[in-house]
Amino acid sequence: MRFYLTTPIYYVNATPSIGNAYTTIAADVAVRHHRQRGDDTFLLTGTDEHASRVYRVAEEEGIDPKTYVDDIVERYWRELPKRVNAEHDFFIRTTDEGHKRFVQEFLQRIYDNGDIYQDVYAGLYCVGCEEFKNEADLVDGLCPDHGTRPEYIEEKNYFFRLSAYQDRLLALYDERPDFVLPKFRYNEARSFIEGGLQDFSVSRAGQPWGVPIPWDEEQVTYVWVDALINYLSALTYARDGEDLRDAFWPHAHHVLGKDILRFHCVFWPALLLSAGYEVPQQLFVHGWLLGLDKRKLSKSAGNTVDPFELVDVYGADPVRFWVLRSVSFGQDGNASLDGLRERYERELANDLGNLVSRTTAMIARYREGRIAPAQPNEELRGLLDALREKLVERFDAWELTAAIEDVWELVRWLNRHVEETAPWGLAKDEANAEQLDAVLYDLADGLRAVAVALSPYLPETAPRILGALRQPVDLALDGVAYGKTAATDGIEPAAPLFPRIELPTAAI
Ligand code: ME8
Ligand code: MG
Repeated sequence: MRFYLTTPIYYVNATPSIGNAYTTIAADVAVRHHRQRGDDTFLLTGTDEHASRVYRVAEEEGIDPKTYVDDIVERYWRELPKRVNAEHDFFIRTTDEGHKRFVQEFLQRIYDNGDIYQDVYAGLYCVGCEEFKNEADLVDGLCPDHGTRPEYIEEKNYFFRLSAYQDRLLALYDERPDFVLPKFRYNEARSFIEGGLQDFSVSRAGQPWGVPIPWDEEQVTYVWVDALINYLSALTYARDGEDLRDAFWPHAHHVLGKDILRFHCVFWPALLLSAGYEVPQQLFVHGWLLGLDKRKLSKSAGNTVDPFELVDVYGADPVRFWVLRSVSFGQDGNASLDGLRERYERELANDLGNLVSRTTAMIARYREGRIAPAQPNEELRGLLDALREKLVERFDAWELTAAIEDVWELVRWLNRHVEETAPWGLAKDEANAEQLDAVLYDLADGLRAVAVALSPYLPETAPRILGALRQPVDLALDGVAYGKTAATDGIEPAAPLFPRIELPTAAI
């Protein structure tokens, strides 16, 4: 199976927020899972650089906009996937020559198909959203997301006949009930389409920062159109001499936040149909991480948490785990820093870390570090088979939070197994040797399977668990099965996986 996954490309007028990190992490978790299944994967992320705000800030600071974006992208945005340990296959910048060339080609196709006409746009524009607004979109005349008054603009623009695509979009939604997930987002997008579609402007006049419109170099491409096209353009130049569209289009899955649903679920498929491309396979729209005050965490609300700081203190794995564990993926939810600390201590250090420490310590102490297959445990075999099948189902439905709970049930089962079998008691009497061997093998085997199952979420921790058990780092999903632990010796008491953290500041 081919699995091409994209994150939104982020605006570069500020540094990465925990919300941006969230989407990148979720995408990486999904791709790592698909790699475990043996799929041919490609993860794309990057930056959306032609926003008006970028041009304005650079101008105010007296810097050339390209110099401005180069600096911020290199210093912060390329760091984002690295710091959260996301293994992307390509990082696209909309200022790349390959992207700009493709945007022009794409627009020309739409133009040649007769879907573009010229008109005057007179109305409101929110620079924060980079979006044309109707009065009905505003609250007391202000943009509800940015709390700012949109600007009135009047300019000659080129319009895309979105209205002509209403029926084709409805037919698409009817044919493909899983085109957009979760279902309530599908319904939201579909009813937006049903409510009637207005043509929208694909160009901006009076600002030189952007991709020139191929048939009128006085205008630049509207930043949202420029940005959406990245999902396709990247495939044309990510690898020298290769056109990855052949392999990966239309096997595309887009993951995004609910703030940009219409652009992705309505505008983008219509643009693709007009340009003669197939639409992507699926879009997953997730909710917002809310701050302690229940508002959306964001740059503009000024309540953002620096994801790099959190990674410095806790490490990438705990941050990845926390965001996906605390907020049911797809829904809005609270992601408090107390929650991060609590999950680190209770779940990672205690439930999982201690189990690894105890298991390895008992194997070292009672068996001089040796384990070997013993009498098979049919209950554990059944649990692992069920878990493997469940994980596939969960990831197919993008239930990334529920999948962690499924693994955690096994972690709890293993902890109970330690208590119920009490290996320290068995070790007192040589007559119980066979039973002790079986218990220790099962604990090691269960932990090995847990490591494989959690590896998309905890890519640094999983190999450490396998290493502590002296097992090869094989992360294939088939490893979530009973009896795959090879006989070994040399197991030593493992160092704590999640040591206590002294916090440097009260703020975190
Ligand atoms: O919209 N909770 O870029 P952007 C969850 N450049 N996710 C959040 C979040 C939060 N509090 N805050 C941000 C843009 N996100 C455009 C995209 S794509 C062709 C162009 C995530 O920098 C979420 O994925 O404003 C959201 O959709 C995205 O960051 C917006 O990033
Ligand atoms: Mg935004």
